[in-house]
Amino acid sequence: MQKIERDVVVIGAGASGLTAATELRKAGLTVAVLEARDRVGGRLWTDDIDGATLEIGGQWVSPDQDALIETLDDLGLETYERYREGLNVYIGPTGEKRTFEGEIFPVAAQTEQEIVTLIEKLDALVAEIDPDQPWAHPLAKDLDEISFSRWLETQTEDEEARENIGMFIAGAMLTKPAHAFSALQALLMAASAGSFSNLVDADFILDKRVVGGLQQVPLLLAERLGDDVHLNSPVRTLRWGPDGVTAISENVEVSARFAVLAVPPILISRISYEPPLPRRQQQLHQHLSMGFVIKVHAVYSTPFWRTNGLSGTAFSPYELVHEAYDNSYHGDPRGTLVGFVADEAADGVFAVSEEERKQRILESLSHYYGDEALTPEVFYLSDWGSEEWTRGAYAASFDMGGLARYGADLRTPVGPIHFSCSDLAGKGYQHVDGAIRMGIETAAAIVERAGA
Ligand code: FDA
Repeated sequence: MQKIERDVVVIGAGASGLTAATELRKAGLTVAVLEARDRVGGRLWTDDIDGATLEIGGQWVSPDQDALIETLDDLGLETYERYREGLNVYIGPTGEKRTFEGEIFPVAAQTEQEIVTLIEKLDALVAEIDPDQPWAHPLAKDLDEISFSRWLETQTEDEEARENIGMFIAGAMLTKPAHAFSALQALLMAASAGSFSNLVDADFILDKRVVGGLQQVPLLLAERLGDDVHLNSPVRTLRWGPDGVTAISENVEVSARFAVLAVPPILISRISYEPPLPRRQQQLHQHLSMGFVIKVHAVYSTPFWRTNGLSGTAFSPYELVHEAYDNSYHGDPRGTLVGFVADEAADGVFAVSEEERKQRILESLSHYYGDEALTPEVFYLSDWGSEEWTRGAYAASFDMGGLARYGADLRTPVGPIHFSCSDLAGKGYQHVDGAIRMGIETAAAIVERAGA
């Protein structure tokens, strides 16, 4: 067992933990980062699968994500635009395929009006929400007591309008059914991205990608930290008290003045605390759970949809794959589609054989792009639900009533222990931008306490 002493021990080498460690070091403090996996990056993971470079985890950067953009600049990373020329595809409740331009789906005029009105209402509500403290909204408790699906029912009788608006937050973001989270949680999701309109605008929210993959961020940050990053070191025990902490993993033990727990909140309770964490934290962490989505990649010899006049962007709340995009990798002449299968639909395809799962998913893609979509050269499913050190995708959100009840203590430190993760962020919540913001804020709070 290697025993080391540092000013701060950071637990978790995702974007948040590595940013915190980098900032702490810049301020003159010594750090050690303990990472459970044999790689850094957590939910950022770029890999070569059967000769194709794929983003198994997070990948997109949007123009408002200034903390992430600054980090990309600092690390000298270049970005490129997602392909978006041509027509988008929408499939309605009867299975009819229609093409369209812009953000509003080609639905009946009455439904379109309902969708526009709902977006306006949501934008107005979101403008009143401070993403850093949604619980402070005067109606926070009421909004947290009603599920997003029920709230939508109180706004419109048009089912197709509700399904479409619900999809943007449920399947596409929180990756839970719209009956499983509150209207307040939905508003936080939209407020964290600036507005509901931003979430609806795929050209905004899914704007750029990073040459070499987004995992370059944690990889390069870790490279700078060098030997202070310890892989294969899951922290099992954290002793803490007024004088500091001792983080104990299988092969390294770090004594430090402060700890940064930079892990998804659902994994906080996998560590044994001596003494136990206070009642409030023990309670609140039980009210957060991971969403679940399968990210599917299909690589073809050519981006055939482009020659058919399609952008690759496709949506349908009625399809197994509820959204899909052109995800061709920078410089690769082949065409790649990425699609998403969320929450209960994801449970459904994991209940069938691997072969049937693949067939069902490809069939759904073929409904958008035609039969050519049925025969990719490479097919890959990101299965984050099976990853012991993540347990779902994309991130964690509160159960009904949890955000108003516990939200204010989400980021409150416990003695020498600070919490840092994208899932705890306000602006940039559930995104790499939020992970980095939290890392910066957490480091600043520790630097102030340390008097460094
Ligand atoms: P993260 O989970 O990445 O890191 C935590 C680290 O802690 C992990 O490395 C884990 O192994 C480690 N750990 C856990 N317990 C430990 C213990 N006891 N001891 C030691 N180490 C421990 N975002 C975005 O901005 N754009 C996008 O396009 C997407 N798309 C997307 C797709 C998919 C499929 C996923 C899964 C996620 C995204 N995201 C995204 C979300 C984004 O990836 C995510 O918000 C951040 O990467 C989270 O970074 P954190 O550092 O907060 O946690």
